[in-house]
Amino acid sequence: MKKVTIALDGFSSTGKSTVAKRLARELGYVYVDTGAMYRAVTLYALRKGYIGETEKNVKALIDDLPQLKLSFQVNFDSNQSEIHLNGENVEGEIRNLRVSNKVSKIAAIQEVRQKLVEQQQKMGLEKGIVMDGRDIGTVVFPEAELKVFMTASPEHRAQRRYKELLERGEDITYEAVLKNVQERDYIDSNREISPLRKAEDAIEFDNSNLSLEEQFQAIYKLALEKIEA
Ligand code: DC
Repeated sequence: MKKVTIALDGFSSTGKSTVAKRLARELGYVYVDTGAMYRAVTLYALRKGYIGETEKNVKALIDDLPQLKLSFQVNFDSNQSEIHLNGENVEGEIRNLRVSNKVSKIAAIQEVRQKLVEQQQKMGLEKGIVMDGRDIGTVVFPEAELKVFMTASPEHRAQRRYKELLERGEDITYEAVLKNVQERDYIDSNREISPLRKAEDAIEFDNSNLSLEEQFQAIYKLALEKIEA
């Protein structure tokens, strides 16, 4: 069967990764969560003290980039692909609000984007890949056979993320999550380099009122059409 490239872009907490993971599983494709890569670099910068409440040392982060190694490894117990930063599994740490609050700033640094985009393009050389992010259809794989742009209202997205964080035991309010979602939308859409925007040939998909099953079935059908084309 023909292998294609599937690019899933959209605002934060639109449920891209849930659909992308299942799509990859059903098709036997590789799944890459590019947001996790930007989050891992942010975690690194936080740990090093390069970013924080007041301090800001972007230059030191840029200098460290060549030594920074990111990889994905499948956890056979959970059957999930987990991100490793210089060999350490940081999957559990990259989703907290401390990282979420800073990640848009790190993702706006040109040198960071250049490094991660190159790595993402290498991962997709053989096709058979589902990648989710913000610039996959516009920058990473402009030639992707299927491009989907997911949207949902900020309130729907904040509600989903809030529930997820509560389930993971985080002490958090809905208002703080909504504020984070809105701030990230703004920074991601207005940054100079590779701002979040829909590729001209992407299919826009508003999932505010769709169940996970409905979303998956609709996108799976689109994928099969491209594979069988
Ligand atoms: O998908 P996510 O919420 O885990 O992404 C985290 C941040 O990384 C998000 O605020 C935007 C940024 N990002 C990006 O700029 N480009 C990508 N391809 C993926 C994520």
